[in-house]
Amino acid sequence: MRILIVGGGGREHALAWKLAQSPSCEAILAAPGNAGTADLGENLAIHDSDIGGICSVAEERRIDLVVVGPEAPLAAGLVDALTERGILAFGPTQQAAQIESSKWFAKQVMQSAGVSHARGELFDSAQAAHKWLEILGPDDLPVLKADGLAAGKGVIVPDHIDDAHDAIDQMFAGAFGSAGERVVIEDRLKGMEASAMAVVSGSDILPLPLSCDYKRIMDRDQGPNTGGMGVYAPPGFVGEPQDVFADVHQPVVEQMDSGGCQFHGLLYAGLMIDDGAMNVLEFNARFGDPETQAILPLLDGDLLPVLEASARGEALPRDAISHSGRASVSVAIVSGGYPGPYETGKPILGLDAIDESVDVFHAGTAIDDDGRTVTAGGRVLAVTAVADTLAEARGIAYDNVRRITFDGSFHRTDIALRELES
Ligand code: AMP
Ligand code: GLY
Repeated sequence: MRILIVGGGGREHALAWKLAQSPSCEAILAAPGNAGTADLGENLAIHDSDIGGICSVAEERRIDLVVVGPEAPLAAGLVDALTERGILAFGPTQQAAQIESSKWFAKQVMQSAGVSHARGELFDSAQAAHKWLEILGPDDLPVLKADGLAAGKGVIVPDHIDDAHDAIDQMFAGAFGSAGERVVIEDRLKGMEASAMAVVSGSDILPLPLSCDYKRIMDRDQGPNTGGMGVYAPPGFVGEPQDVFADVHQPVVEQMDSGGCQFHGLLYAGLMIDDGAMNVLEFNARFGDPETQAILPLLDGDLLPVLEASARGEALPRDAISHSGRASVSVAIVSGGYPGPYETGKPILGLDAIDESVDVFHAGTAIDDDGRTVTAGGRVLAVTAVADTLAEARGIAYDNVRRITFDGSFHRTDIALRELES
């Protein structure tokens, strides 16, 4: 098969890396890709949200399967557009992608499916939202969410009720564009977060290992949120993985199916676990980034027939992949200044000094005019190690992280430490 991966981050490099190992894979193309995907195939200078451009190139280049990485093209209807042209695509339709692109849609599905989640209300005016905050009272701090997609920035967890009122004003004043025209105010939950991903084909689900990502820039979860600073798998605090998928994914996909909104693609549940009690915070309609960089190296077997069956709407071939039962740790190396402003174009040194057993997934990288691999984004690389124990995986990952340098490079030093200390 000739495969086109849409996107250019670490998740897309990890998908390209795993799919390139399939005996059925003839070629990998990426739009737009990065230096990592260029190494596995061909990068195309097409933006991941250019629906017309992706459809045309998929026809011209005789692509057999398009695998969509990011949420924005899914929410914009890329899979629908490809399907109309007769091109097979992995990912949900625009309608089914609402499980991620509308927080309120997701809540209604969970409500109907009887899935435990943070309860919330929907507001379409600042006045009504302010009034609700007053009813809640100053000690009852909620979480505010722009209903639509806001590039991961639409969730506000205020420290003070005045901050909540300010956030409401900003959201309705257009801080998140049309995504903030409707705002969900929901109960604030406490606990530890985990990510649960499954490949879905209608009501058939194939669970992947659970994982835990680190969102804050600094050690001990200090500083602002980022796109993800590292991941480990599996987390020990979640309970039985099969219970998560039976209690969350299965009822949700059955509810969507019966509601005429069948889901095909990757369903990701963001969970909050408190003393064994599990609630869903959000759904994503795509592979998690950076979770994918830690999970795919744990899978034995061929992922391609699984994604293909999901795209065709067929039963998922359960025996195609298995989990090794081992542990993985993935550490992101980022540009100095990230998640604020940062410089790019810094040559990356040490990529040839990495252990053979370790995978380095590229995110913001490019090849410069002199043929050097240089930085091209905030999150630059993810270094993933797999081993029999989490402690071993962590040791190997950091040993290799230290061999890679570029001007201003930064990484967290405590990925997976919390789990090992507890
Ligand atoms: P989301 O985009 O929904 O994952 O939200 C981003 C982050 O906000 C989550 O990873 C949580 O850390 C936090 N968050 C979201 N919803 C809640 C909630 N109901 N209670 C507490 N924290 C939340
Ligand atoms: N790691 C969180 C996400 O992919 O949205």
